[in-house]
Amino acid sequence: MLISGTDALRRAAAEGHALPGFVAYNLETVQGITAAAEAAGRPVLIQAGSSPFKHAGRDALIRLALDAAAASDAPLGVHLDHSRDLDEITACLSAGYTSVMVDGSHLPFAENVALTREATRRAHDHGAWIEAELGAIAGDEDVSTDADARGAAMTDPRQAAEFTAATGVDALAVAVGNVHGFTRDPVRLDLDRLAAIHRAVPVPLVLHGASGLPEAELRGALARGVAKVNVNAELRRAYLTAVRDRLPDALPDSDAVAVWAAGRDAVRDAALRVIHQLSPAS
Ligand code: 13P
Repeated sequence: MLISGTDALRRAAAEGHALPGFVAYNLETVQGITAAAEAAGRPVLIQAGSSPFKHAGRDALIRLALDAAAASDAPLGVHLDHSRDLDEITACLSAGYTSVMVDGSHLPFAENVALTREATRRAHDHGAWIEAELGAIAGDEDVSTDADARGAAMTDPRQAAEFTAATGVDALAVAVGNVHGFTRDPVRLDLDRLAAIHRAVPVPLVLHGASGLPEAELRGALARGVAKVNVNAELRRAYLTAVRDRLPDALPDSDAVAVWAAGRDAVRDAALRVIHQLSPAS
Protein backbone atom coordinates (compact mmCIF):
# COMPACT_ATOMS: atom_id res chain seq x y z
CA MET A 1 0.00 0.00 0.00
CA LEU A 2 1.16 3.51 -0.68
CA ILE A 3 1.94 5.55 2.43
CA SER A 4 1.82 9.31 2.12
CA GLY A 5 2.67 12.08 4.55
CA THR A 6 5.53 12.43 7.01
CA ASP A 7 4.14 10.15 9.76
CA ALA A 8 6.60 7.29 9.19
CA LEU A 9 9.52 9.75 8.92
CA ARG A 10 8.54 11.65 12.06
CA ARG A 11 7.94 8.45 14.01
CA ALA A 12 11.39 7.20 13.03
CA ALA A 13 12.90 10.54 14.12
CA ALA A 14 11.11 10.48 17.45
CA GLU A 15 12.02 6.87 18.19
CA GLY A 16 15.68 6.95 17.03
CA HIS A 17 15.45 4.63 14.06
CA ALA A 18 15.28 5.30 10.32
CA LEU A 19 13.29 4.81 7.17
CA PRO A 20 15.30 3.07 4.43
CA GLY A 21 15.34 4.70 0.99
CA PHE A 22 16.39 2.07 -1.57
CA VAL A 23 17.31 3.06 -5.12
CA ALA A 24 15.52 1.01 -7.82
CA TYR A 25 16.61 0.83 -11.47
CA ASN A 26 14.49 -1.88 -13.04
CA LEU A 27 11.80 -4.52 -12.54
CA GLU A 28 13.94 -6.86 -10.44
CA THR A 29 15.17 -4.16 -8.07
CA VAL A 30 11.62 -2.83 -7.55
CA GLN A 31 10.43 -6.40 -6.88
CA GLY A 32 13.31 -7.18 -4.53
CA ILE A 33 12.78 -4.01 -2.47
CA THR A 34 9.03 -4.62 -2.30
CA ALA A 35 9.54 -8.24 -1.22
CA ALA A 36 11.92 -7.10 1.54
CA ALA A 37 9.36 -4.60 2.87
CA GLU A 38 6.72 -7.35 2.83
CA ALA A 39 8.97 -9.78 4.68
CA ALA A 40 9.82 -7.17 7.34
CA GLY A 41 6.41 -5.51 7.55
CA ARG A 42 8.24 -2.18 7.91
CA PRO A 43 7.82 1.10 5.98
CA VAL A 44 10.25 1.49 3.10
CA LEU A 45 10.79 4.06 0.36
CA ILE A 46 11.30 2.89 -3.23
CA GLN A 47 13.57 5.57 -4.73
CA ALA A 48 12.65 5.42 -8.42
CA GLY A 49 14.55 8.14 -10.32
CA SER A 50 16.03 10.55 -11.01
CA SER A 51 19.28 8.96 -12.26
CA PRO A 52 17.64 5.53 -12.92
CA PHE A 53 15.24 7.21 -15.36
CA LYS A 54 18.20 7.35 -17.79
CA HIS A 55 18.16 3.54 -17.88
CA ALA A 56 14.51 2.59 -17.53
CA GLY A 57 12.75 5.59 -19.00
CA ARG A 58 10.82 7.97 -16.80
CA ASP A 59 7.25 6.87 -17.46
CA ALA A 60 8.11 3.17 -17.32
CA LEU A 61 9.91 3.39 -13.97
CA ILE A 62 7.25 5.67 -12.48
CA ARG A 63 4.52 3.15 -13.34
CA LEU A 64 6.59 0.17 -12.22
CA ALA A 65 7.31 1.63 -8.79
CA LEU A 66 3.85 3.07 -8.14
CA ASP A 67 2.03 -0.07 -9.26
CA ALA A 68 4.30 -2.32 -7.17
CA ALA A 69 3.79 -0.15 -4.08
CA ALA A 70 0.04 0.10 -4.51
CA ALA A 71 -0.36 -3.65 -5.06
CA SER A 72 1.75 -4.63 -2.05
CA ASP A 73 0.58 -5.25 1.53
CA ALA A 74 3.72 -3.53 2.81
CA PRO A 75 3.75 0.19 3.68
CA LEU A 76 5.69 1.71 0.79
CA GLY A 77 6.42 5.27 -0.28
CA VAL A 78 7.65 6.11 -3.77
CA HIS A 79 10.33 8.79 -3.73
CA LEU A 80 12.25 10.77 -6.37
CA ASP A 81 15.96 10.88 -5.42
CA HIS A 82 18.38 13.72 -6.31
CA SER A 83 16.41 15.73 -8.84
CA ARG A 84 17.62 19.09 -10.12
CA ASP A 85 14.73 19.50 -12.52
CA LEU A 86 11.43 21.13 -11.54
CA ASP A 87 9.62 19.63 -14.53
CA GLU A 88 10.76 16.15 -13.53
CA ILE A 89 9.68 16.81 -9.94
CA THR A 90 6.24 17.94 -11.12
CA ALA A 91 5.86 14.90 -13.40
CA CYS A 92 6.57 12.54 -10.48
CA LEU A 93 4.28 14.44 -8.12
CA SER A 94 1.48 14.43 -10.68
CA ALA A 95 1.92 10.67 -11.17
CA GLY A 96 1.49 10.10 -7.43
CA TYR A 97 4.97 10.03 -5.84
CA THR A 98 4.64 10.37 -2.10
CA SER A 99 7.88 12.34 -1.68
CA VAL A 100 10.64 13.96 -3.71
CA MET A 101 14.18 15.16 -3.19
CA VAL A 102 15.25 18.40 -4.81
CA ASP A 103 19.02 18.64 -5.09
CA GLY A 104 20.29 22.20 -5.40
CA SER A 105 23.48 21.38 -3.52
CA HIS A 106 25.60 22.30 -6.56
CA LEU A 107 24.18 25.84 -6.56
CA PRO A 108 25.19 28.91 -4.57
CA PHE A 109 23.20 29.13 -1.32
CA ALA A 110 20.62 31.70 -2.49
CA GLU A 111 19.93 29.73 -5.70
CA ASN A 112 19.61 26.48 -3.77
CA VAL A 113 17.08 28.24 -1.50
CA ALA A 114 15.11 29.55 -4.50
CA LEU A 115 15.01 26.17 -6.29
CA THR A 116 14.14 24.31 -3.09
CA ARG A 117 11.44 26.77 -2.11
CA GLU A 118 9.71 26.36 -5.48
CA ALA A 119 10.01 22.55 -5.36
CA THR A 120 8.61 22.61 -1.81
CA ARG A 121 5.60 24.60 -2.94
CA ARG A 122 4.93 22.06 -5.70
CA ALA A 123 5.40 19.04 -3.42
CA HIS A 124 3.10 20.42 -0.74
CA ASP A 125 0.48 21.38 -3.35
CA HIS A 126 0.42 17.68 -4.29
CA GLY A 127 0.25 16.48 -0.68
CA ALA A 128 3.79 15.05 -0.85
CA TRP A 129 6.75 15.72 1.43
CA ILE A 130 10.14 16.94 0.32
CA GLU A 131 13.81 16.44 1.12
CA ALA A 132 16.53 18.88 0.06
CA GLU A 133 20.32 18.86 0.28
CA LEU A 134 22.71 21.40 1.72
CA GLY A 135 26.44 20.77 1.42
CA ALA A 136 27.73 18.37 -1.23
CA ILE A 137 27.80 14.59 -0.77
CA ALA A 138 30.94 13.11 -2.33
CA GLY A 139 30.99 10.21 -4.80
CA ASP A 140 28.84 9.08 -7.71
CA GLU A 141 25.24 7.95 -7.31
CA ASP A 142 25.45 5.05 -9.81
CA VAL A 143 28.96 3.60 -9.47
CA SER A 144 31.40 3.19 -6.60
CA THR A 145 34.29 5.55 -7.37
CA ASP A 146 36.25 5.13 -4.14
CA ALA A 147 35.81 8.87 -3.58
CA ASP A 148 36.35 10.34 -0.15
CA ALA A 149 34.75 13.35 1.47
CA ARG A 150 37.90 15.49 1.44
CA GLY A 151 37.20 18.65 -0.46
CA ALA A 152 33.43 18.09 -0.38
CA ALA A 153 31.45 20.96 1.12
CA MET A 154 30.26 19.89 4.57
CA THR A 155 26.88 21.09 5.79
CA ASP A 156 27.16 24.13 8.04
CA PRO A 157 24.76 23.95 11.03
CA ARG A 158 23.88 27.66 11.03
CA GLN A 159 23.28 27.69 7.27
CA ALA A 160 21.18 24.54 7.67
CA ALA A 161 18.92 26.36 10.13
CA GLU A 162 18.57 29.30 7.75
CA PHE A 163 17.96 26.94 4.81
CA THR A 164 15.19 24.91 6.44
CA ALA A 165 13.46 28.06 7.71
CA ALA A 166 13.66 29.75 4.30
CA THR A 167 12.47 26.75 2.28
CA GLY A 168 9.98 24.88 4.48
CA VAL A 169 11.41 21.46 3.57
CA ASP A 170 10.35 18.39 5.54
CA ALA A 171 13.73 16.64 5.66
CA LEU A 172 17.35 17.68 5.12
CA ALA A 173 20.11 15.61 3.50
CA VAL A 174 23.45 16.44 5.05
CA ALA A 175 27.10 16.17 4.06
CA VAL A 176 29.04 15.10 7.15
CA GLY A 177 31.75 12.95 5.59
CA ASN A 178 29.33 10.49 3.96
CA VAL A 179 30.16 9.25 0.46
CA HIS A 180 27.99 7.68 -2.26
CA GLY A 181 29.16 4.15 -3.09
CA PHE A 182 31.72 1.81 -1.53
CA THR A 183 35.08 3.24 -0.54
CA ARG A 184 38.50 1.63 -0.03
CA ASP A 185 38.95 3.14 3.44
CA PRO A 186 36.10 3.04 5.95
CA VAL A 187 34.09 6.26 6.06
CA ARG A 188 34.19 8.26 9.27
CA LEU A 189 31.34 10.68 9.83
CA ASP A 190 31.74 14.04 11.54
CA LEU A 191 29.29 13.16 14.31
CA ASP A 192 29.87 16.43 16.21
CA ARG A 193 28.82 18.36 13.12
CA LEU A 194 25.82 16.08 12.70
CA ALA A 195 24.79 16.68 16.33
CA ALA A 196 25.11 20.45 15.82
CA ILE A 197 22.94 20.28 12.67
CA HIS A 198 20.38 18.20 14.59
CA ARG A 199 20.24 20.82 17.34
CA ALA A 200 19.92 23.63 14.80
CA VAL A 201 17.17 22.35 12.50
CA PRO A 202 13.64 21.24 13.35
CA VAL A 203 13.29 18.58 10.62
CA PRO A 204 14.49 14.94 10.39
CA LEU A 205 17.92 14.48 8.78
CA VAL A 206 18.76 12.20 5.85
CA LEU A 207 22.00 10.26 5.47
CA HIS A 208 23.00 9.41 1.91
CA GLY A 209 25.78 7.00 1.03
CA ALA A 210 25.09 4.30 3.61
CA SER A 211 26.61 1.42 1.60
CA GLY A 212 29.71 0.15 3.34
CA LEU A 213 29.29 2.55 6.26
CA PRO A 214 30.69 0.97 9.44
CA GLU A 215 27.94 -0.06 11.87
CA ALA A 216 29.23 2.27 14.61
CA GLU A 217 29.00 5.28 12.28
CA LEU A 218 25.46 4.32 11.32
CA ARG A 219 24.45 3.95 14.99
CA GLY A 220 26.02 7.34 15.72
CA ALA A 221 24.00 8.92 12.91
CA LEU A 222 20.73 7.37 14.10
CA ALA A 223 21.38 8.82 17.56
CA ARG A 224 21.82 12.30 16.06
CA GLY A 225 18.61 12.98 14.20
CA VAL A 226 19.04 10.85 11.06
CA ALA A 227 15.61 9.38 10.29
CA LYS A 228 16.07 8.37 6.64
CA VAL A 229 19.03 6.41 5.26
CA ASN A 230 19.68 5.97 1.53
CA VAL A 231 21.16 2.74 0.17
CA ASN A 232 22.05 1.99 -3.42
CA ALA A 233 25.50 0.44 -4.06
CA GLU A 234 24.85 -2.38 -1.58
CA LEU A 235 21.80 -3.52 -3.56
CA ARG A 236 23.62 -3.12 -6.90
CA ARG A 237 26.50 -5.24 -5.62
CA ALA A 238 24.11 -7.95 -4.36
CA TYR A 239 22.23 -7.97 -7.66
CA LEU A 240 25.31 -8.16 -9.90
CA THR A 241 27.07 -10.72 -7.72
CA ALA A 242 24.04 -13.03 -7.83
CA VAL A 243 23.66 -12.63 -11.59
CA ARG A 244 27.40 -13.23 -12.17
CA ASP A 245 27.40 -16.33 -9.97
CA ARG A 246 24.38 -17.71 -11.78
CA LEU A 247 25.64 -17.07 -15.30
CA PRO A 248 28.20 -19.89 -15.66
CA ASP A 249 25.36 -22.44 -15.40
CA ALA A 250 23.10 -20.49 -17.73
CA LEU A 251 23.71 -21.28 -21.35
CA PRO A 252 22.75 -18.38 -23.63
CA ASP A 253 19.61 -20.19 -24.75
CA SER A 254 18.61 -21.55 -21.36
CA ASP A 255 16.50 -20.09 -18.59
CA ALA A 256 17.17 -16.35 -18.46
CA VAL A 257 14.35 -15.89 -15.97
CA ALA A 258 16.28 -17.91 -13.39
CA VAL A 259 19.21 -15.47 -13.71
CA TRP A 260 17.01 -12.41 -13.29
CA ALA A 261 15.23 -14.06 -10.37
CA ALA A 262 18.57 -14.68 -8.65
CA GLY A 263 19.30 -10.94 -8.93
CA ARG A 264 15.86 -10.04 -7.59
CA ASP A 265 16.19 -12.39 -4.60
CA ALA A 266 19.66 -11.05 -3.78
CA VAL A 267 18.28 -7.51 -3.74
CA ARG A 268 15.50 -8.67 -1.42
CA ASP A 269 17.97 -10.28 1.01
CA ALA A 270 20.31 -7.27 1.00
CA ALA A 271 17.42 -4.84 1.52
CA LEU A 272 16.05 -6.97 4.35
CA ARG A 273 19.42 -6.84 6.16
CA VAL A 274 19.39 -3.03 5.92
CA ILE A 275 15.77 -2.79 7.09
CA HIS A 276 16.67 -4.79 10.20
CA GLN A 277 19.72 -2.59 10.85
CA LEU A 278 17.55 0.53 10.72
CA SER A 279 14.59 -0.85 12.69
CA PRO A 280 14.00 -0.38 16.40
CA ALA A 281 15.57 -3.17 18.47
CA SER A 282 12.90 -5.78 19.13
P1 13P B 1 25.13 4.38 -1.54
O1 13P B 1 25.26 4.01 -2.98
O2 13P B 1 26.43 4.65 -0.87
O3 13P B 1 24.32 3.40 -0.77
O4 13P B 1 24.31 5.77 -1.50
C1 13P B 1 22.98 5.80 -1.93
C2 13P B 1 22.38 7.15 -1.90
O5 13P B 1 22.75 7.96 -1.09
C3 13P B 1 21.32 7.47 -2.88
O6 13P B 1 20.90 8.79 -2.82
